Amino acid sequence: MNSRTRSVVLTGFMSTGKSSVGRLVAQKLAREFVDMDAVIEAREGETVRTIFETRGEAGFRSIESALCAELGKRNDLVIATGGGALVNPRNQDVFANAFVVCLGATFEEILSRLNGAQDRPLLANGDARERVEILLRARHAAYARIQNHVDTTGQSIEQVADRIIRMFQTNGPS
Ligand code: S3P
Repeated sequence: MNSRTRSVVLTGFMSTGKSSVGRLVAQKLAREFVDMDAVIEAREGETVRTIFETRGEAGFRSIESALCAELGKRNDLVIATGGGALVNPRNQDVFANAFVVCLGATFEEILSRLNGAQDRPLLANGDARERVEILLRARHAAYARIQNHVDTTGQSIEQVADRIIRMFQTNGPS
C-alpha cells in the first residue's frame, strides 16, 4: 500500500482537535472525512451520550470496535476516532496499515478546551480536573504505543493540519 492509498487516522484525548483538524486534513488532501462518533450517532440514531446512558460504556465500545474493524479495511480516508477508540490494542491493530497520528495537548490546555462541555459522558460525573487526570494516566501507555505524535498546545487547526500532512508526505510510505 502506498501513501496515496493509506488512510490517515487521528486519535488522542478528548479536545485535542481530532475532528476539526481531520476535516481540514481531508479537505487539503481531497479525501473523504470520517468522524467515527458522528457515524455512530447517525447509524444508531442516538447521541454518544445517550448510548453511554442506555447501553453503558461497554455497549458504546463494542459499536466503536466494530466500526474500527470496518474502517480498517478501507483506504484513502481521513478518520477522526473518538478519544478512547484506540486505547484497545485490537483497535490499534486494525489500523496497522494506516498512518496513525496521536494528537496531544498539555493537561491545562485540555482542561480549558473542555471547560463546560456537556457532551462528554466520561466527564459527566464528578470533578472534570480529576476525571481528566485519571483518564490521561490510564491511557498514557496506549497513546504512547502510537507511532506519530503531534502536540497541539498553542497551535491553530491549520498549523496542526499542515504539520500532519507534512509528516504523512515524509513518513507515510514507510
Ligand atoms: C471518548 C471520547 C469521545 C467519545 C466518547 C468517549 C473517550 O470522543 O467517543 O465520549 O473515551 O475519550 P471525543 O474524543 O471526540 O470527545
